[in-house]
Amino acid sequence: MSILVTGGAGFIGSHTCVELLNAGYDPIILDNLCNSKSESVKRIKEITGKDVKFYECDIRDRAGLDKIFAENKIDAVIHFAGLKAVGESCAKPLEYYDNNIGGSVILCEAMAAAGCKKIVFSSSATVYGSENISPLKEDMPEGKTTNPYGTTKLYIERILKDVCASDSEWSVCLLRYFNPIGAHKSGRIGEDPNGIPNNLVPYITQVAIGKLSHLNVNGNDYPTPDGTGVRDYIHVVDLALGHLKAVEKVLGENGCFTYNLGTGNGYSVLEVVKAFEKACDKPIKYVIAPRRPGDIATCYSDPSKAKAELGWEAVRGIDEMCEDSWRWQSQNPNGYGD
Ligand code: NAD
Ligand code: WQD
Repeated sequence: MSILVTGGAGFIGSHTCVELLNAGYDPIILDNLCNSKSESVKRIKEITGKDVKFYECDIRDRAGLDKIFAENKIDAVIHFAGLKAVGESCAKPLEYYDNNIGGSVILCEAMAAAGCKKIVFSSSATVYGSENISPLKEDMPEGKTTNPYGTTKLYIERILKDVCASDSEWSVCLLRYFNPIGAHKSGRIGEDPNGIPNNLVPYITQVAIGKLSHLNVNGNDYPTPDGTGVRDYIHVVDLALGHLKAVEKVLGENGCFTYNLGTGNGYSVLEVVKAFEKACDKPIKYVIAPRRPGDIATCYSDPSKAKAELGWEAVRGIDEMCEDSWRWQSQNPNGYGD
């Protein structure tokens, strides 16, 4: 089975390609490399010992997409490609709407024209907004998004639901990720953020390696056990394996399906710091800083629907997530390099 993986050179996409190859699928990577490097594709081949086709292409390039569909018999698409920095999306909303929403529309048009109507989409827990109370369940109402990035995920979900409602040949799986961290056990692929990381674990790994002096803990006065924000961190390999189940779902059944991919467990910022200290065997310096605008106190999933319907559940715990993140960072201090 050939699976087109948009954004397959990126963090979650590269791990998913490894698991697809291990399971006997034939992933075809499409990426414009705006937030990744082709070195990750080389390493996917190195880890699996298998070849993988790579197209440097933008999802907004309709002619480029048509060529890929003409050259390959694609059975389904896993659609990771998108811009994902919350702060940047507030500064450059039009870029986010064009890339994420415009790109998804063009991708679906090319898919329909090629007769490939099965798609798994990278959505986010951000679509629940701040009003819903954790544990978050798929049947809760969508929340008010607090930034253009989140709004793109909400709108793409709606667009894909409408596409599905308009044509019974479509099958769509919306996967709402919680907080993906960790890396492949080999230490050869992982998250490689540009510049100063926005997210907690990439920031901590750079403190541990000595690139950043200390972590700013964004607020310790939230209504949580230790006052710091609580999130549902999920190992990227568990997340990748969830995509294999989602691909099976869209290949086997038409319709629109929505699943949380999380562990169901919440960890505070200070608990993550502690777990990371254990993994890297050194103290992580931190200072308590003001709250980050737009943050919520607590966000974790109810993952039971994915378990019941996909037969998937996350099995890797916070210690393993931190050990694997640290192995990747310590073995690749400059990520994939220049
Ligand atoms: P990433 O930036 O590592 O991967 C995204 C990939 O898409 C990159 O390789 C980038 O070069 C590519 N890309 C972006 N725009 C493109 C375009 N127009 N055409 C072709 N390629 C393009 O990010 P990630 O963490 O692997 O996230 C993958 C997906 O999952 C994204 O859609 C993201 O919004 C979503 N998601 C991520 C998280 C997270 O915390 N990492 C959480 C929820 C959802
Ligand atoms: C986690 C916790 C911070 C950095 C974001 C996006 C979300 C989704 C996943 C894509 C919070 C605290 C962080 C730091 C800190 N992405 N923190 N110091 O905000 O839950 O989710 O990534 O869809 O849409 O918003 O993740 O890792 O940024 O923060 O104290 O330097 O760590 O305040 O409590 P978040 P995060």
